[in-house]
Amino acid sequence: MQGVARNFFTLAIIYSLCGMALGIHMAMSGDHGQMPTHAHIMVAGWLMSAVFAFFYHLFPAVGRTTLALVHFWLTAISGIGLMIGLFVMLAGNPAIEPVLGIASIGFYAGMLLFAFIALPAVWEKP
Ligand code: HEM
Ligand code: HEM
Repeated sequence: MQGVARNFFTLAIIYSLCGMALGIHMAMSGDHGQMPTHAHIMVAGWLMSAVFAFFYHLFPAVGRTTLALVHFWLTAISGIGLMIGLFVMLAGNPAIEPVLGIASIGFYAGMLLFAFIALPAVWEKP
C-alpha cells in the first residue's frame, strides 16, 4: 500500500483506536452520552477510511492523482473536525454547533468528490 491508500489506512487505524477507547470508557463508566461520537468515529471514521484505503489500493493510478490527495485532506480535516466537534458538543457545549455544521458540509463534499473520482474508475471499460 502506498500514497493516498496508505494515508487513509493509517487514518482508519487512528480512528479505530480512539473510537474503541471511547467505547470502553462508555461501557466502564455506564455513561453512554457520547454514543453518537463513538458510533461516528467507528463507522464514518474507521470503516469509511478503510473502504477509501482499499479503493485506492485497488486503483493505484487513481490514487496518484491530485484529486485523490484533495479527497484525502478534505475527508481527514472535516472528519476530525466532525468527531472532535461532536465530542465537545455532547460534553455540554452547544456553542460548537456552527463548527459541526461546517465540518459536516466538508465531509459531505469529500464524499461527493469521491463519487466523481470513483465512479468513472469502476465503470471504465476494460
Ligand atoms: C472496544 C470495543 C467497543 C466497545 C467497548 C463499544 C462500546 C459501545 C457502547 C457502550 C455503545 C453504546 C450502546 C448503547 O448505549 O446502546 C456502543 C454503540 C455503538 N457502537 Fe460500539 N463499542 C466497541 C466497538 C465498536 C466497533 C468496532 C464498531 C463498528 C465498527 C462500533 C459501532 C458502534 C455503533 C454504530 C454504536 C451505536 C449503536 C446504536 O445506534 O444503537 N463499536 N458501543
Ligand atoms: C455529514 C455528516 C453526518 C452528519 C451531520 C450526521 C448526523 C447524524 C445525526 C444527527 C444522527 C442522530 C444522532 C442521535 O440520534 O443522537 C446520526 C446517527 C448516526 N449516524 Fe450520522 N451523520 C453524518 C455522517 C454519517 C456517516 C458518514 C455515517 C456512516 C458511514 C453515519 C453513521 C451514523 C450512525 C451509525 C448513527 C446511529 C448512531 C447513534 O444513534 O448515535 N453518519 N448521524
